[in-house]
Amino acid sequence: MIPLVSPILGSQEKEIISQIIDSGMIASGAYVTQFENECAGLWKSKYAVATSNGTTALHAAMLAAGVKPGDEVLTTPLSFIATANSILYCGARPVFADIDPENFNLSPEKTEAALKKNKRIRAVLLVHLYGTPCDMDAFMYLKNKYGFILLEDCAQAHGALYKGKAVGTFGRAGAFSFYATKNMTTGEGGMVLCGNPSVEKQARCIINHGRKDHSTFGMLGYNYRMTNLAAGIGLVQLKHLNDWNTARRNNAKFLNCNLQDLSFLETPAIKQSTSPVFHQYTLRVRHGKRAAFAGYLAKNGIGSGIHYPSVMYLQPSYRVLGYKKGLCPEAERAAREVISIPVHPALSTENLELIVRVIRKFKK
Ligand SMILES: Cc1ncc(COP(=O)(O)O)c(C=O)c1O
Repeated sequence: MIPLVSPILGSQEKEIISQIIDSGMIASGAYVTQFENECAGLWKSKYAVATSNGTTALHAAMLAAGVKPGDEVLTTPLSFIATANSILYCGARPVFADIDPENFNLSPEKTEAALKKNKRIRAVLLVHLYGTPCDMDAFMYLKNKYGFILLEDCAQAHGALYKGKAVGTFGRAGAFSFYATKNMTTGEGGMVLCGNPSVEKQARCIINHGRKDHSTFGMLGYNYRMTNLAAGIGLVQLKHLNDWNTARRNNAKFLNCNLQDLSFLETPAIKQSTSPVFHQYTLRVRHGKRAAFAGYLAKNGIGSGIHYPSVMYLQPSYRVLGYKKGLCPEAERAAREVISIPVHPALSTENLELIVRVIRKFKK
């Protein structure tokens, strides 16, 4: 089976973990600080605050950026549930605007229409889905016009660039995940990027029980700290990230070249202004054939996944909030049509050729 994801971990990770265990400093410490500094340096952010996972990074980023109970936060309907859940954790209400059917990200036009109608929207949380940067020129224009707090969920987009600038550095805060299946991992882990010292100070306080100094807790906070063990793995992974992202882009190019003529599929569009990092390589399957196609891939030893089979607002846990089917038709159509196939850097040329060969033989 060619798996959909294949985390790459090896002797360097084992070595650093063993050093950290020998040091006795397994909780938060110097490795975390070093990991924060290296992420900030690589992505050209003034500050980076490491957290226990991507969800806690999102929650801390939103609180530190000033999202308050009762606020409304506009976001995309097509993402992992953590995106919308983190809005709810703040006591805010998610407002959903439809996606751009071409890149699966939040549509700037639909966002502007929502902003015109709903003056209570205080923040916009973008998601750079599948590692594809959102249309940042359009969103920066909207931010300046409407004055909302811009936030970025970069859980799937480590190192993705929009006109040469790293995602996560456009808004008041950006949140990353280092979950096991991401472009780089720490097992579980997260990171908040920000450029404003008061946002950084607030985020540090929030992730450490609201601690101001050794014995003073100035506000209600949480234990969202990263461990040295996680940071140690992250430091090793970070060194490989650029090469792994290049491999993902090359694999995606190969798949695009060899699949784009198939009429039952739609391959991902790559915009000139962006450098995506293909956390997922996601196709649309036309004519209602997705289930048959997924079954066919499995039968032929090719892993696949659906990201995501439902928009977030139609999940059972969101029923009490009263969102209705049909709210975002393009996102709902994407949820019916998308399928992700392997694109990870551990794929060999033979793997890629086999994937193409199998897909080209699919009988519609
Ligand atoms: C878009 C998105 N947002 C947030 C998260 C949450 O990250 P984590 O699983 O590290 O909490 C994930 C990853 O799972 C994600 O894909």
